Amino acid sequence: MPTGRRRQTSLGVALLCFVLAAAPAAAQPAQKIIFDTDFAFPPQDDSMALFFVLNSPELDVLGITTVAGNRSLNVGTADVLKLLEVTGRADIPVYEGAAAPLLHVGTAWDTKVHGGWFSNPPAPAPPGGFAAKKAAERQGAVDYLVQTVRAHPKQVTILALGPLTNIAMAMRMDTGFAANVKQLVIMGGAVAALPDGAGNHTPNAEFNFYVDPEAAQIVLRSGIPILLSPLNVSRKARFTKEWYDRIVVADTPITRLIREHLGPRFAKRPETVMLMYDQVAAVSLVAPSLVKTVDYFVDVDANPGANYGVSVGGPEIWPGGEGARKMQVQTDLDWDRFIRLYIERVTAPARPRR
Ligand code: RIB
Ligand code: CA
Repeated sequence: MPTGRRRQTSLGVALLCFVLAAAPAAAQPAQKIIFDTDFAFPPQDDSMALFFVLNSPELDVLGITTVAGNRSLNVGTADVLKLLEVTGRADIPVYEGAAAPLLHVGTAWDTKVHGGWFSNPPAPAPPGGFAAKKAAERQGAVDYLVQTVRAHPKQVTILALGPLTNIAMAMRMDTGFAANVKQLVIMGGAVAALPDGAGNHTPNAEFNFYVDPEAAQIVLRSGIPILLSPLNVSRKARFTKEWYDRIVVADTPITRLIREHLGPRFAKRPETVMLMYDQVAAVSLVAPSLVKTVDYFVDVDANPGANYGVSVGGPEIWPGGEGARKMQVQTDLDWDRFIRLYIERVTAPARPRR
């Protein structure tokens, strides 16, 4: 090629590169998610995670499914309906799921310790009353999960923030369910082979897996691509008054709710530290690079006894751990960027309805 033409060609290529670099990146379609939750108003972390999700344009919340855990199913469902109404997001449908774990029956100890998963009395009226207009859908959560995943094969991510009862039941209802879920992002478990891997409910078991160990085992063995957010990473995400104060300087329906529910707690005990269990799982859907992971094989002990509900994980399969599946396990996070993003989203003006 003559030198003049070669120069022209390389100028053309340089110009094209410049134009492409300057053009705004094509907007990614929002990720379709189902928010599966043992919901309760703040200070519970599920609601603090939902605030982030509602203000994240990268996520398209198709529906919210409730399950017994932190509180009874009735309380969780009543709280989420009220919260959606107050925050102007009554357009998101809510489906009631399992009122009790697959097999686990609460003991006298459970009724004294945390959660209301062992029985389902009606919800007492929350401050300000129940949702005035919004009601749960007539369709149940398990049926909804199956139908939605069938309608959008390999496109739906389930953000599972409570006991895994609904997901295990969906797998039992539809044997094709697991193959068609895009990804499961699960807050649950603790891995003793990694730092900070003790339990938070029994010495070695994390709460969500302890409440329904059989469901956790079924789901972890399902073959669905799993991103597991265990206590190992939650323990690095410590929400204190410093961050609360930065949130409540903004005045939006969300920050008003946070002030109403967390204000008295921080006023009484300013040294309070709240671990951001479910928020880490939610944020990692939007900004996965903020959280460090390792590929580990993980399984759950569902045998009655001292280790009921304990998750066990390691870099290789071990004798007796043949059921374990490989998944991404979160171990650490970039705290400064994480909390900045969380606060930025939670304090943003409300997003318009879909
Ligand atoms: O162990 C912490 C988990 O148990 C969180 O998801 C919390 O909301 C409860 O469900
Ligand atoms: Ca939860």
